[in-house]
Parts: sequence; C-alpha cells; structure tokens
Amino acid sequence: MRSDPLAFLGHELDSLREQKLFRHLRILEDEQRAHTTFDHKSVVNLSSNNYLGLTTHPKLRQRALEAVERYGVGTGSVRTIAGTMDIHMELEQKLAEFKKVEKVVVFQSGFAANAGTVSAILTKEDVVISDELNHASIIDGCRLSRATIKVFPHKDVDAARRLIKALPAEQRKLLITDGVFSMDGDLGALPDLCNVAEETGCIMMVDDAHASGVFGTNGRGTVDHFGVHGRVDIQVGTLSKAVGALGGYVAGNTNLIEFLYHRARPFLFSTSHPPAVVAACMAAVDVLLEEPEIIERLWDNTRFFKEGLQRLGFNTGLSESPITPVIAGEGAKAMELSDRLFARGVFAQGIAYPTVARDKARVRTIVTATHTREDLQYALDAFATVGRDLGLI
Ligand SMILES: Cc1ncc(COP(=O)(O)O)c(C=O)c1O
Repeated sequence: MRSDPLAFLGHELDSLREQKLFRHLRILEDEQRAHTTFDHKSVVNLSSNNYLGLTTHPKLRQRALEAVERYGVGTGSVRTIAGTMDIHMELEQKLAEFKKVEKVVVFQSGFAANAGTVSAILTKEDVVISDELNHASIIDGCRLSRATIKVFPHKDVDAARRLIKALPAEQRKLLITDGVFSMDGDLGALPDLCNVAEETGCIMMVDDAHASGVFGTNGRGTVDHFGVHGRVDIQVGTLSKAVGALGGYVAGNTNLIEFLYHRARPFLFSTSHPPAVVAACMAAVDVLLEEPEIIERLWDNTRFFKEGLQRLGFNTGLSESPITPVIAGEGAKAMELSDRLFARGVFAQGIAYPTVARDKARVRTIVTATHTREDLQYALDAFATVGRDLGLI
C-alpha cells in the first residue's frame, strides 16, 4: 500500500496541538444572534460580524423569501454568460446611489472583490504600496497580480510616501489600506493617504469591509466618515458583515467597473449570487437608509463595552470601532482566555499567529446593535473574573 502523501499535514496539525493552537470549529445551532447557542451552550456572542443584527431582520427575511418564490434558488451561470438577473443590476444601481459613485459591481464575497480587483487592474510592471496589516484578500490579490509589493509599517504615512517617492514617477502605483483593520479595530490613515496619492499620482483604494454599515452617514463607510468623497478611486465594501447577507462590491467610476466586468476573474469564472442573497442585500440598503437608529445603538453599545473593558484594565490596543481586541500575549494564553470565557457563557474567539503577531495574540470582541446592556454587563463580569485568574488585569 502506498504511504499517505498528505502525512506532512498531520505533522503540521500535531505541531499546532503541541502549541495548544489547534482549534475545533464552534458550531452555531441557532440563528446568528447576540445571544445564541454554540456547541450546545447558550452564550453572549461577541464573535460575529453581524454588527446591526441584519442576519435576522424581518425585512431581509421577507425579501429573500419573495425572491426565492419569484426567481428560484440559483442563477445557474456566471455573470458574464447567463447569470445576470435584473435584480443583480438593481442591487448594483442601488449601491452606486448609496455610495455616491458612478457605478458598482457586486462580487460573491468581499474576499473575491478585493482579490479580483487588485489582480485585474495591476500587472507585473506595477507596484502596490500596502499597509502591513491589510487583509489577506488584498495580499492575495497583490500576489496574483505579480506586481511588486511594497509594505509600509501600520498607518505610517511618511513611510508610505518615502516608498512611493523612491519609485520611478512613470510607474503605475496602487496605494491601499483597510478602512477598519479587522484584528485591531483601528481606522486606516485614509485622509493622509489620499494626500499622498494625490501628491504622487497613485491610484487610491480602500477596503471598507468592517466599515460598511458601521461608519459614515447611514453606514456609507470611511470615505463618508472622513469626508473624502471623490478622492478614493476604488472602494471595496462587503455585504457579508453589517449588511447581514453575503457578497462584496467595488464602487468607483464607469471605466473601473466596466473593466472589472471584463477582467475580474471571480466575476468571469464563478457563478453569481443567488436571488435570495441579492434581494436581502437590497432590503439591507433600505434598512440602512430607513432605520439609522440601529447604527446609533451599535455605537452606544460599543462605547459601553469598550469603556467597561478599559476600566477593568485590559489592554484593548488602539481600537476605534465596534471591534475591540483584548490582548493576552502568547497564543496559548489567548486561547485559554477564550476557552474560559466560553465556559462562563461568553463567546469571544481567540486569535493567534499567523493572523496576528506572535506576541499579540488576543481574543477579539465585536459588539452589535442587538446586544442588550445585560448581555454586555454579563460579558464584562466574565472578563473581569477570567482576566484576574489569568493575571491579565
Ligand atoms: C478587512 C476585510 N476585508 C475583506 C474581508 C472579506 O469579506 P467577506 O467576508 O465578505 O469575504 C474581510 C472579512 O473577513 C475583512 O475583514
């Protein structure tokens, strides 16, 4: 019998077990809510990106059901062949109006939007100047493009400028940042980076996955939050987090979007969104416009919880958003913090290397609009007890 050619994967997994970094998937046995059931345990859920509670909003459910009745469950094709329905075009039009741009293209996920866009617009002759903490989908897009990648230290705008100025003026350059950094919850240096892009002729791109529905008027994102409309050439948003369904989109001018229709590989080579998802996303935009009080509740809860953690003495890094890390140090410690919280009925996922630096492992907390004050106080009490037991506070 031949030996297992995948045995090396088992060795890698053994090494994770030894370092206490091997993770089982937690299984959600109910809806994605602020208080729900994972692994047969009722918990306060601080791990979802469901910022506004839209995964279970009645308007989204209703519109998704109606779309299934009217169009069925799938599209049966990629967008460029037979998979563009009228509702795909309606969603893109609606998002373009919402984002105040000429045009939008929707992808199957935020990941596909980032990776598909960067890899489509750049070639190996070009350069990407990228914040060191940018999302994996940006990094993969850069690698696929085969452009030269220059990384600047997190939010160090002067370093970005120096990198750009050292390059030949005629070379095409893309300057790119996350709007909100997903592991630290801080905001990208968008206004200053826009200045650099304008001084040096770079294309400016922002990935607003965690800002979509959270920052800016009615959740329009960081471009709106910072008042830099018209200064960012490519905005990526997600429909998978605050919007409550699934997908990603690119907002920009007509040339950009029509080019992506022709060259973005996830658009060309992967089947389009099912009708229920498209309809739910359209309903979500209506909710953002009609029920902005949900976003206010998100921010009230964010302030309450973040201040609570800080008052207890936890290291919460530089967060400016509903994502608040509780930094524990070594990976094993963060995992123990997460496990002990879970045993007390609080689900906050542990995150370790390679997702974050080896000595900055953490549990990441995400507050939503639908947490009650009781949920949040319960979680703070659990953090206080476990944090003291582990010597973190
Ligand atoms: C910063 C950032 N960009 C992009 C994505 C990808 O978005 P999606 O989940 O819609 O694929 C994520 C999600 O993890 C993210 O955190």
